[in-house]
Amino acid sequence: MRRLMSGLPVALLWLSLNAFAADELPVAAEEFVYCTVCHGVQLMGNQIIKAPRLSGMEPWYVEKQLHNFKKEIRGLHGDDAFGYEMQPMAAALTDEQIGEVAVFVNATRSRPATPTIGGDAEKGKALYTTCAACHGSNGEGNEALGSPDLRIANDWYLVTQLNNFRSGSRGSHPADINGMQMRASVQLLNDDEAIRDVVSYITTLRNQ
Ligand code: HEC
Ligand code: HEC
Repeated sequence: MRRLMSGLPVALLWLSLNAFAADELPVAAEEFVYCTVCHGVQLMGNQIIKAPRLSGMEPWYVEKQLHNFKKEIRGLHGDDAFGYEMQPMAAALTDEQIGEVAVFVNATRSRPATPTIGGDAEKGKALYTTCAACHGSNGEGNEALGSPDLRIANDWYLVTQLNNFRSGSRGSHPADINGMQMRASVQLLNDDEAIRDVVSYITTLRNQ
């Protein structure tokens, strides 16, 4: 962690933060600046290291995932390479810091992520009807069901997560009740094409 907070990445970070003239944009408290080293300025996402866009993500979901990583319910499966990057970051946070950083994440702002997946959104729309039962007809999520807003993160990240749920590298820990519910639902996406199609449809729900 110390290594991450020193040297070139931080210098670059401050340069890019200064490029954002808007004073009202929230700046991470010093103890949380390292989140932006991986997740980007205003947590806009960084495809190179597969750290997703988090800007504006609801605090309840951020907290739940950070607790899942910390409690080793998520991110330590042998095939979950990117979860493995995130797990120690959450493990280093106290429960109090998890609450604080979730408020910061929710306050950040960045443009909706640029689509990168070439799927068939029309076919994806038909597949999405099942997803809507939990994630809402506009992908807005449903806290009571533990289902996140799907309009926040990058499309490549959603593809990774659907593959993770499909293979069981996410959502198979016995304590991961919500993950298991999602795992059951992903089984109707038969192949990579179906995953790309449904994610392409989800990207059309942004900006609404
Ligand atoms: C070393 C790079 C790195 C750092 C530093 C880092 N993250 Fe992450 N984070 C990742 C990666 C990579 C993923 C994607 C994990 C996956 O694919 O399952 C991730 C995933 C997440 C997720 C899950 C999002 C979702 O939609 O499920 C949350 C929440 C998160 N990070 C919050 C944070 C916060 C808050 C901090 C600072 C306290 C932080 N991260 C620091 C790399 C990092
Ligand atoms: C039975 C309810 C239910 C259905 C139906 C459902 N989901 Fe989920 N989904 C969830 C829950 C609950 C989570 C959160 C899992 C967790 O806490 O780790 C989730 C998580 C996800 C995630 C991870 C998001 C992130 O930021 O990490 C994606 C992507 C996703 N769902 C997409 C879909 C798609 C696409 C469909 C339709 C094929 C679908 N879901 C159907 C309940 C559902």
